[in-house]
Amino acid sequence: MKKIEIAPSILSADFRNLEREVKTVEDAGADRIHCDVMDGVFVPNITFGPLVVDAVKKCVKIPLDVHLMIVNPEKYIQQFCDAGADILMVHAETCKNLSDVLDSIKKRGVKAGVAVNPDKPVELFLPYLDKIDQVLIMSVYAGFGGQKFITDTMVKAKEVYNEVKDRYPHIDIEVDGGVNKETASISKENGINVLVAGSYIFGADNYKSRIESIR
Ligand code: DX5
Ligand code: ZN
Repeated sequence: MKKIEIAPSILSADFRNLEREVKTVEDAGADRIHCDVMDGVFVPNITFGPLVVDAVKKCVKIPLDVHLMIVNPEKYIQQFCDAGADILMVHAETCKNLSDVLDSIKKRGVKAGVAVNPDKPVELFLPYLDKIDQVLIMSVYAGFGGQKFITDTMVKAKEVYNEVKDRYPHIDIEVDGGVNKETASISKENGINVLVAGSYIFGADNYKSRIESIR
């Protein structure tokens, strides 16, 4: 069994006090910080870019898990790598040539991940597993925090798990969206080893107990 890792998403953090927020979740036992980058084109919402990733990088020691929800991600790989992304994830359908995008991330010494929305098939990335460090199974449609977990997406998580467990055991399988105590346990039963949680952690008074409850 792989170690379970918890990645709080700063989308639900208090941006007036971002430094304090990320340091508090780090002290509370978070394994990574999840940064949701949205462009208002691929998804209807707009969040932040490399400047904020760079600022967060300076506040914590744990790795940054950067989730790009943007069109033409190939244009911005250099900037997000320079900003300090440790794992950079793109949505498969935003890439004209996914294989080239993965190469471009990895040649910069950063781990490469592929995300898929609930309505997108795993076949989009299965041919490139040898270049992938992490698969992100979206359990909500990318765009907003606080949505309800779509349990059907776990069929894909299990499929990916079965595909990688023997041949690519280093690949992490992450879930993102609507994660709480109950859905975390469903996720783990389906092969997920990295859990992103935004509102469930940052919406609580005690981050540590929420992190422990999903671990
Ligand atoms: C949604 C983002 C998520 C979001 C999760 O597009 O990718 O990372 O912050 O938020 P919760 O945990 O509140 O569903
Ligand atoms: Zn995310």
